[in-house]
Amino acid sequence: MKIAMVGSGYVGLVSGACFADFGHDVVCIDKDQSKIDRLHEGVMPIYEPGLDALVASNVKAGRLSFTTDLAEGIKGASAIFIAVGTPSRRGDGHADLSFVYAVAREVGESLSNDAVVVTKSTVPVGTGDEVERILKESGTPHRVAVVSNPEFLREGAAIGDFKRPDRIVIGAEDEFGREVMHEVYRPLFLNESPILFTSRRSSELIKYAANAFLATKITFINEMADLCEKVGGNVQDVARGIGLDGRIGGKFLHAGPGYGGSCFPKDTLALLKTAEDYESPVRIVEAVVKVNDLRKRAMGRKVIEALGGADAARGKRAALLGLTFKPNTDDMRDSPAIAIAQTLADAGVSAAAYDPEGMELAKPLMPEVEMVSDPYAAIDGADAVVIVTEWDAFRALDLDRVKALAKAPVLVDLRNIYQPDMVREAGFAYTSVGRS
Ligand code: UGA
Repeated sequence: MKIAMVGSGYVGLVSGACFADFGHDVVCIDKDQSKIDRLHEGVMPIYEPGLDALVASNVKAGRLSFTTDLAEGIKGASAIFIAVGTPSRRGDGHADLSFVYAVAREVGESLSNDAVVVTKSTVPVGTGDEVERILKESGTPHRVAVVSNPEFLREGAAIGDFKRPDRIVIGAEDEFGREVMHEVYRPLFLNESPILFTSRRSSELIKYAANAFLATKITFINEMADLCEKVGGNVQDVARGIGLDGRIGGKFLHAGPGYGGSCFPKDTLALLKTAEDYESPVRIVEAVVKVNDLRKRAMGRKVIEALGGADAARGKRAALLGLTFKPNTDDMRDSPAIAIAQTLADAGVSAAAYDPEGMELAKPLMPEVEMVSDPYAAIDGADAVVIVTEWDAFRALDLDRVKALAKAPVLVDLRNIYQPDMVREAGFAYTSVGRS
């Protein structure tokens, strides 16, 4: 089966490469000539573990190709995926659908065979209806079905998530759409991944509801962490104690500096806008967005506290280990590190930082922070060492070396990756999240 993937960013490229790996013939299309040129040279536009090898082997096998020519790329494709960005619209938080609609228009004008058009981009409820309207308006004589097929890929684990999904959700309104999608995902049926067929609107909502629920879970445990610090509890015990209840589940209960990334912040806001438009408030999500926003600066204040409070902290220096919103990505979007660096700068605390992949993208976002080439260079002369992102490289720091290099043995662990007893025994003043 031939599949066209319009948009060769994170979702499009990972999905395209995985579909090709399942044996489909995949063309990834993107307007950005330099991105396509680099892909032809085997250079990935994003950092994702395993993606370069997956792309290379499928290009070599002749199943995966790249082009900027949409009309040519979609020729003969039974399924045309729209996987372009849906950023937050400037000013109001609505998802910006202009790229999705532009692709729908171009597909309608260029279509040369019957096809299913699939929205993989995260789009608000009702977008599929509009895509269908645009395609009809184009006057194409070919049979077209518009289907919703949200992605549930985590950055850093996207290939595994694609190949071994918890579920596949397909929102289709007719048999043609369902049949083609069945064929697209047939290799996964054989893996016995559950496939859920729903209406198109339900499928669109499932994506937002899933991300909003996960963001809520994280925010809930973050507030429990704050409470633990006040009442003398341990949030990791609380998380385990509730997570063993199968109705709650243990995942996404790691307390930390607040969620970031390209999905939760944007999707929770977009859900609020949909709820507003339909006059059906989702107050829990409203609270989650607010609490998470405030939390990021609060983490900066936690560091200032560890430096002895506002007066003592002024003029001191912090080492920031990890800048990306989570490990195994170079993505800095809405990373807590940005607000933390800003809070420190506002309080007159200077900072040096190291991140294994994120420094290039971080530089323009935190010009006041000095970027250095390894963790120990950041620690050199620091008054406090702050673990912002839980990269593996920071899990087993040489604590003697840290103590020798740092001006003071102060460790602020915003991801709870160290055992308090062990670090305190090593002579550190240790602060973590929700472990009093
Ligand atoms: C998220 C979802 O997990 C995916 O299922 C979804 O497909 C994706 O958004 C998307 O909509 O495209 P992602 O943003 O890559 O994936 O990252 P997550 O692993 O979900 O982490 C998001 C944020 O939550 C990170 O800042 C992470 O540090 C934080 N987090 C996560 C916690 O603070 N605690 C946890 O227990 C889990």
